[in-house]
Amino acid sequence: MNSLDSAPRAHAGWIVIKFGGTSVSTRPRWDTICRIARDWHAQGKRVLIVVSALSGITDKLKAVAEAAGDRVRREALQVEIHARHEAMFTELGLADRATLDYWLSRLAALAVDARAETSQLAWQAEVLALGEQLSSTLGQAYLSAQGLATRWLDAREHLLAQALPNQNAWGCYLSASVPTAPDAALAAALAKQGEVFITQGFMARNTAGETVILGRGGSDTSAAYFGALLKAEKVEIWTDVAGMFSANPRIVPAARLLSRLDYEEAQEIATTGAKVLHPRCLNPVREASVPLAVRDTNRPELAGTEIGASVAAAAPSVKAVSERRGITLISMESIGMWQQVGFLADVFERFKRHGLSIDLISSAETNVTVSLDPSENLVNSDVLSALAADLAEVCRVKVIAPCTAVTLVGRGMRSLLPRLAGVLAEFDLLRVHLVSQSSNNLNLTIVVDEAAATGLVPTLHAALIKTEALRAEDPAVFGPAWSELYAAATHNTEPPWWLTRREELLELGAQATPRYVYDLATVRERARRLRALSAPDRWFYALKANSQRDVLQVIAAQGFGLECVSPGELDIAAELVPAERLLFTPNFAAQPEYAAALARGARVTLDNLHPLQHWGETFRGHEVILRVDLGAGRGHHDKVRTGGAGSKFGLSLDQIEEFRQLARRHDVAVIGLHAHLGSGILDVGHWREVYSQLAALAQRFTRIEAINIGGGLGVPSRADEAQLDLDALDACLAEIKQAYPQFQLWMEPGRYLVAEAGVLLARVNQVKRKGEYCYAGVDTGMNSLIRPALYDAWHEIVNLSRYGEPADTLYQIVGPICESGDVLGSNRRLPECREGDLLLIAQAGAYGATMASQYNLRIPAGESVV
Ligand code: LLP
Repeated sequence: MNSLDSAPRAHAGWIVIKFGGTSVSTRPRWDTICRIARDWHAQGKRVLIVVSALSGITDKLKAVAEAAGDRVRREALQVEIHARHEAMFTELGLADRATLDYWLSRLAALAVDARAETSQLAWQAEVLALGEQLSSTLGQAYLSAQGLATRWLDAREHLLAQALPNQNAWGCYLSASVPTAPDAALAAALAKQGEVFITQGFMARNTAGETVILGRGGSDTSAAYFGALLKAEKVEIWTDVAGMFSANPRIVPAARLLSRLDYEEAQEIATTGAKVLHPRCLNPVREASVPLAVRDTNRPELAGTEIGASVAAAAPSVKAVSERRGITLISMESIGMWQQVGFLADVFERFKRHGLSIDLISSAETNVTVSLDPSENLVNSDVLSALAADLAEVCRVKVIAPCTAVTLVGRGMRSLLPRLAGVLAEFDLLRVHLVSQSSNNLNLTIVVDEAAATGLVPTLHAALIKTEALRAEDPAVFGPAWSELYAAATHNTEPPWWLTRREELLELGAQATPRYVYDLATVRERARRLRALSAPDRWFYALKANSQRDVLQVIAAQGFGLECVSPGELDIAAELVPAERLLFTPNFAAQPEYAAALARGARVTLDNLHPLQHWGETFRGHEVILRVDLGAGRGHHDKVRTGGAGSKFGLSLDQIEEFRQLARRHDVAVIGLHAHLGSGILDVGHWREVYSQLAALAQRFTRIEAINIGGGLGVPSRADEAQLDLDALDACLAEIKQAYPQFQLWMEPGRYLVAEAGVLLARVNQVKRKGEYCYAGVDTGMNSLIRPALYDAWHEIVNLSRYGEPADTLYQIVGPICESGDVLGSNRRLPECREGDLLLIAQAGAYGATMASQYNLRIPAGESVV
């Protein structure tokens, strides 16, 4: 026996490590969990692993819980959830399925439970809990199979929830709280049972023994509760970023890592918008004095953010700027007398009656305005109108929504005020509804209209560093910038092509507007970048993004095949590449379209049973690719997510067997699997996940040659956002490819190749002032570029005629179409615009001209190339 085994760890300390949804959704991720747990164990610690549900599963379970009275939908969702865990079971290569089957049968039973019809809260909680019960069951089996003996712990046996004063029934079951204090007896009892444990985040039981849910972000909270109960040496929250940052690094790449925070500051940052850590998880660890760390699962060498009791003895500094969107303000004007006694008591009593907790408050003699934070409240229109009706008895009510609350956090905020002048100047042109300085002296919050808040946080962060209100150079608090850690080589610093060719564009604009202009050199360069990746074997360009002929020619010349979705696209594509480089991936197409595509020799992708059920002869003797729905969608907007039961694309996983039988019956060979879950994705882990899920599914077929992981490669819309990290993408694809060398890897991007290569030029027709708004109306709108109207997409807009002049006016850039949504960009700071000025709308090369229409019988912008 070695010394570790022989001296049982009677006094060994506990380490609690928590992993979220994406960290438990693939086999490589479970290998990482295994490594981290093993490391701690090898250091003589007892380890408790807390896990979330597989990514996307909680949303599906929520949909089950919400489908009261719709048994068919509940059962359909149940089948999807079942299939997802089945696929994971296969991917993990597990053998013993008894425990998994137990939880899957619970799922099936709950889906048809009589309590569903009345949507009982206790039933909903049981449904929601299943995600973690399933993931922890898979995890226990996998870790043990890897030789790390792991015991499964039912979290509900140890976490006992207690109702808070005034908590409504919904909160008791679905947003419960667990009072915790170190419990030495429990720690000792567990110590007798083993050394490594796995348990479920997100759930507890109530005093009646029923299952209850801790609310969103509940897995972090579970880890904190267990950390407190066991008086752990440390709680580690493992996630996909190295810790908390001075701003959301997705929009501020210059944001600095916060290496060290005290509990209160961390609480403040988490509460006011940072998503990396759930605010509820700080209280339990603070009360038990357990340190908590946030770490990056992909970069375990980074120390992350350490949160503990001691306050860094550094000079006062703003630590972070954060924002919360979707804030509702309620302004209440007293209708009684001036300084009427009891007015506040009267109005607050009504909030209490509706179970609403108030966040920010500002008051005047006859008015009090408060904010409701949607993360703490169930704010929907029913609740709001009931509240407004009650309030109307005592005051005049105005609801102002949606608003954004921007918060500066730092200990000793009051002493920092003099240094904030230059920072607050950034609010110059915005309508500020409310300013609130927290009484704990930790934050200053400013509430503005949500529409006006775009771009505010990056600007404020830069101003904070410039004025040294945020002392980024203080090593006691601040670590490296996010861009240094993650995006060193990928951040785009070069001026865009259209700036270097301004004169030429002004001339083109003088000839005719509106017009799209494409820079072929940019298209070529993007195509080369992709071709330089080593993992993908074949590339297909999704020409729906831009089918301008010269653009297509450049892409085809770089060796790309073409992915088409209609006979029209096939016609153009067939003129440019040979048939074996054509993919036909239509959706709900008619039989003759498939027949024609096969006849021309294109590779056809099916995503439904119907074609083989009804037109089997069409496909006899052919090879096809099967597009599957992996159960969840991704992307920059709801409308571009193409996964999950709510999306019309892809064959549902539970129909694969039937598809295989139909294919066999008609002598159709399935030689490829395909999934495309959405568009505008910047997280490279996405394709790794799709790849590993498809490769695992491919084991169920006999002849799969190709795995097509779709397109969706995003292009950040703002200059300071990080670019897609192609090297990281290549590395993670290569890693999976090693595990499945038998398959060819295909990808089919659209946007990435063309978005930045195109601009839309439009001329100012008229300017208008109305109230506080200033409109610049140009000669085209949503008929040429529908993305802002359809997806709230953000396109940079510059006044090319006056480029470089001081941008001191805030404009709404609108078109001439008879729709209120005909806006190309709102709240853009530009030099004063005059009739005849040429405006440039950037990143319009993808899904611009191809989505244009003749609405209002206005001819959309033409196209030209430079
Ligand atoms: N493959 C399939 C099966 C697709 O449906 C699509 C896009 C792509 C590849 C290419 O996706 P990309 O790499 O361009 O993201 N109109 C929206 C995008 C819709 C994408 C439709 N399908 C937008 O403007 O954002």
